[in-house]
Amino acid sequence: MIDKLDEHIYYIKKFKSKDIDEIESFKIRFLGRKGIINDLFSEFKNVPSDQKKEYGQKINELKNLTQNKYDELKLSNSKSDKSISEDLTKPGFPIPKGTLHPITLIKNQIIEIFSKVGFELSDGPEIEDDWHNFTALNLPKHHPARDMQDTFFIQQDPDVLLRTHTSSVQVRYLENNPPPLKILSPGRVYRNEAISSRSHCIFHQVEGIYVDENVSFADLKQMILYFTKSMFGKSNLRFRPSFFPFTEPSAEVDIYWGLETETDYRITKGTGWLEIMGCGMVDPHVLENCNIDSEKYTGYAFGLGIERIAMLIYQIPDIRLFFENDVRFLNQFK
Ligand code: DAH
Repeated sequence: MIDKLDEHIYYIKKFKSKDIDEIESFKIRFLGRKGIINDLFSEFKNVPSDQKKEYGQKINELKNLTQNKYDELKLSNSKSDKSISEDLTKPGFPIPKGTLHPITLIKNQIIEIFSKVGFELSDGPEIEDDWHNFTALNLPKHHPARDMQDTFFIQQDPDVLLRTHTSSVQVRYLENNPPPLKILSPGRVYRNEAISSRSHCIFHQVEGIYVDENVSFADLKQMILYFTKSMFGKSNLRFRPSFFPFTEPSAEVDIYWGLETETDYRITKGTGWLEIMGCGMVDPHVLENCNIDSEKYTGYAFGLGIERIAMLIYQIPDIRLFFENDVRFLNQFK
């Protein structure tokens, strides 16, 4: 009887296979409910008592050996999974390269242009409070100018909202940093608008602000001229008087784009002129709201929409294309 056990032990030690079915049937044959090892256990009662001890030890050894053998074969077999083992020197499949989103490309260009003249980056939260988005910017509650920007409210009283412009970052920065300061804040903004080929509830802006002693409107004009020359290679500009609660005086800047393509017609509504940004001298109230001495310091600020600029540069006729994530569209920006 002991001899039979020795034979099995010998067999198990020698057993080799790379065939997963063979390995499984090896397991069933030995370790299965009606397998060899269970049979050997049930024969235990017939073993002469002077051999019982040795028999017991050997059968346990057999059982452990079999289990270990099975585990080992199974492991090395899964390692030699065919797809890997075929030829390890073969090159992998090429992974197609992604592209940067056109909004990111334009944003990066704008950042580069302004950082050359000393603007530093700063950002703020997209979920804002009433103070930073409105009140500190000279837009107290119930001020009619709040209607210029239809707002998504998350919570009322105290108001929590999705920021309607990146001007909120001005306030955050001014509150925490003494002048002189020169900051650029690109980011995503939200407005409750009907979606059309020209407007969308989510879009992107870049906000700029410069506060120091003796900053003048002439400095602002010069900076915008530098920007449009660098960005578009164009310098035919028009400053139209306008109104923003946080700047005084305020202006909107139009650039003469021309009427060369159908998209030019559509984007400029047939005039050749296009509004590219709002700007002005920071209202002294805004400085005071942020504890900055408005007798000593003045500043200018501007805000521009990234989508509009991207539409011009890439001749994109419909703003919705930016948000659909159609790879046929995105792949064109390699
Ligand atoms: N926040 C304005 C908007 O979203 C844009 C703007 C206008 C920003 C004038 C400014 C500014 O900093 O001076 O329409």
